[in-house]
Amino acid sequence: MSLKLGDTAPDFKAESTQGDISFHQWLGKSWGVLFSHPADFTPVCTTELGAVAKLKAEFDKRNVKVIALSVDPLQSHNDWIKDINETQHTQVNFPIIADPIFKVANLYDMVHPNASDKFTVRSVFVIDPDKKIKLTITYPASTGRNFDELLRVIDSLQLTAKYSVATPANWKRGEDVVVAPAIKTEDIPAKFPKGHTVIKPYLRTTPQPDL
Ligand code: BEZ
Repeated sequence: MSLKLGDTAPDFKAESTQGDISFHQWLGKSWGVLFSHPADFTPVCTTELGAVAKLKAEFDKRNVKVIALSVDPLQSHNDWIKDINETQHTQVNFPIIADPIFKVANLYDMVHPNASDKFTVRSVFVIDPDKKIKLTITYPASTGRNFDELLRVIDSLQLTAKYSVATPANWKRGEDVVVAPAIKTEDIPAKFPKGHTVIKPYLRTTPQPDL
């Protein structure tokens, strides 16, 4: 059965390019991004892992640990990292899980047999500090992910975890947010003293509260 938003992210032990990992312990009190890719030494995956390495400081700023996975063995990951570093002009600075017996891939339902039963698809799980799954995304092997979008979504998840707000379409950090429907309009000034706009009784906006 596939994992759903709000489920506890399954714990596991695995080998990675940065040593053996006990997943929950490794996450600690951080947010986490666990993302799978189909296979080592493939072109799109090479660009994706390079892109994540270049964004590591942005993930760190948000207290997010990133960890990749594919069903290739550890030696293959270590050999491939040299190519990623060379071709993407970066240093892979996060662990890649080696999952040759599909232990984690099956636990997280990362193999979609109608796409391929040999490889994981491009799954993404964003996990909060309580180990709850807050976001899942699935891309096919042929489409590389947009990791700037992942950071944008994490900004929304972290903001909406703290305040009674939601973020509108295409929202980016710094832009106005939507007041949660559960908040009565007369209660908004006390909760959001920076001001608010009532566009419709059900559509109220306010400046991003934590800036
Ligand atoms: C890639 O990463 O380039 C890739 C992997 C599997 C299938 C297609 C593309």
